Amino acid sequence: MKRLFILFFAMYSLSVFAWEGKVTITTPNTQLLIHATEGGDLRMDYYGPRVCTDQELRDAGCALNSSALPAFGTVDMVQLPAIQIQHADGDLNLELRVKDMEIKDENDSRTYVFTMEDKLQPVSVKVFYKAYRNVDIIETWTEIYNGEKRSVTLKRYDSGHLVIRQGDVWISHLHGDWAAEAEPTMEKLSSGVKTISNTDGARNSHLDAPEVMLSLDGIPQENSGDVIGAALCWSGNFELRVNTLLKKEHHFYAGINPQASEYVLDPKQTFATPRLALTYSTEGMGGVSRTFHRWARTCGMLHRGMNTGDILLNSWEGLYFDINEERMIQMMDDIASFGGELFVMDDGWFGNKYPRRNDSSSLGDWVVDARKLPGGIKALTDAARQRGIKFGIWIEPEAVNTKSELFEKHPEWALQAKGRQLKLGRGGTQLVLDMTNPKVQDFVFNVVDELLTLYPEIAYIKWDANASIQNYGSTYMPADKQSNIYVDYHLGLLKVLERVRAKYPDIVIQDCASGGGRANYGLLPYFDEFWASDNTDALQRVYIQWGTSYFFPANAMACHINHCPYGNTGGRIIPIKFRCDVAMSGRLGIELQPKDMTEEERQQCTRCIADYKQLRNIVQNGELYRLISPYERKGVSALMYNHSGKAALFVYKVENFYNQSIPRIRLAGLNPDATYTLTEKNVRVGQRPCSLNGKRFSGRFLMEVGIEVPLREDYASRVFELDS
Ligand code: DGJ
Repeated sequence: MKRLFILFFAMYSLSVFAWEGKVTITTPNTQLLIHATEGGDLRMDYYGPRVCTDQELRDAGCALNSSALPAFGTVDMVQLPAIQIQHADGDLNLELRVKDMEIKDENDSRTYVFTMEDKLQPVSVKVFYKAYRNVDIIETWTEIYNGEKRSVTLKRYDSGHLVIRQGDVWISHLHGDWAAEAEPTMEKLSSGVKTISNTDGARNSHLDAPEVMLSLDGIPQENSGDVIGAALCWSGNFELRVNTLLKKEHHFYAGINPQASEYVLDPKQTFATPRLALTYSTEGMGGVSRTFHRWARTCGMLHRGMNTGDILLNSWEGLYFDINEERMIQMMDDIASFGGELFVMDDGWFGNKYPRRNDSSSLGDWVVDARKLPGGIKALTDAARQRGIKFGIWIEPEAVNTKSELFEKHPEWALQAKGRQLKLGRGGTQLVLDMTNPKVQDFVFNVVDELLTLYPEIAYIKWDANASIQNYGSTYMPADKQSNIYVDYHLGLLKVLERVRAKYPDIVIQDCASGGGRANYGLLPYFDEFWASDNTDALQRVYIQWGTSYFFPANAMACHINHCPYGNTGGRIIPIKFRCDVAMSGRLGIELQPKDMTEEERQQCTRCIADYKQLRNIVQNGELYRLISPYERKGVSALMYNHSGKAALFVYKVENFYNQSIPRIRLAGLNPDATYTLTEKNVRVGQRPCSLNGKRFSGRFLMEVGIEVPLREDYASRVFELDS
């Protein structure tokens, strides 16, 4: 049945067209087919390469014809619901019927909005699909409107649902822990429900991360095979589920974790679920990664990721809490002498009544500890300017220690379960502030605002979050809305970040949470980068950075050269060249006390920084090709970035045995007909470049035959620039 629908274009020009109840949502190489009829269910027919017409799909018997947003009360019980609402009168059902569809055009995207209404109750649900014009990402999310006279409860409110034809489908996701983040885990889907979730409350990527890949044709491959990539853009608790129905379909659902989060929605209010970013690649997992990186640089992260991050020295692992003015200035001298561009003063600079000497006090008291820093922050920004570098500072504004002036004044600002003893986190005294409370939101905003107003030369903020929500309860939220806390915490945080970015659009802010606890696309629209891990051991970083790169581009990933022997890995000692080469494959920084470095270490760092400046644009803005995985146990790991006819190649020896066979390194993504000159970078101090230096090869040779990279000794590594 034909019906006229009105299209609302972004500039609000109006046009009218006939819609037959079928929509093809396209990106350059993918398409999503949806059909709906007036008064009918919204149904998904296809998601995959942009190769078919709706008619072909039907003629071939391939249309999936499955509910796009299965609702409890409509779907049979085998298929799990993506949405369930308890109405004000207790009714638990939803029968959603499409009312209309509108299209919103923006320069970079087209968004399709399907409005559905419940047959019985005045509740409506909009389903959004935002398709990008220049990158193969479709974002989907919902908006739920409560038109009832009293509150309704959202019992399940997924952002999106995808149907996948039954097959040899594998799920890959990142699993880890503190200091061991982002280990790729792959498993074949079999009948039943596979769930990946997080319940930390405040952070969400230490253990399981809110991104997955689904390889549709067998064991996940790096460069081949059809793979769906999905990232839930949310920094709170999440739940990703795949329900495999025997011989039928796999149903993928992604959304906020409903555990202890049945959301109470007031009358006339709308709840928007976080976006779920989807891509489909026929080039394996590598293709999915490159699309996510491209999308991050289009809109998924702040400044479109186009800022090339400064090379910095961060004080944490060099000094921990033991900072003072003299040491800060000494570190600034050192990073400036290495050719670095920024110095960041980490934890330990604040607290008046309770000076921050360790992690048991002072969070919340964001005043300079004049005993450590008699000249205050002004003396430090002056010193940085005099040395031709920028200055950055650490804060953890969402947290408080019970031993702090803030807690003495506002104990009610901490999340707490009424009448129950507080469970204390880091340092035995740490609590999480109640971000649902507008007064706390103002406080957190003011922490940033006051620092940047008083010290406008601060160019960088490291925003940390070192505690999970252990005390579930808010003195601000009413009794009947306590189950909104997990969600409203993050909505409160986002409100603060909106305010920060409205006033300070340009300042660089790192998102950190005990290492990589907040590596997610929920926060990256407000941040320039994240701290990938508190483990800076270069060997383990090869693995952590490898996994992180599945979804995040190099310029989002802060990678620092550490000191040795290194405590987190039992005192491991790794040569400085290897440590530099590993950090050079992301946003380069240093995380040690330069005063303790040997002359060789200082020289290598200086060389590494100079060479990184030449490679920086390729690494931070290039297309990533993962060549040899450290998880393949081939003794080496290799990856490269390509950008505008140039490439940067990184090769690391991760195991060392006598008579070891080192695989030939075949490159990827090059122009087969171009000739590339190899230049070795960050050559080890005291050594000459290897035999490949200065040699010229066709792109075809490099990709089809490859090169034998000399890697003899323990922790050997090489970095090359390729120029065509
Ligand atoms: C945890 C972060 O991950 C570290 O880099 C450091 O900033 C500490 N917090 C400071 O307490």
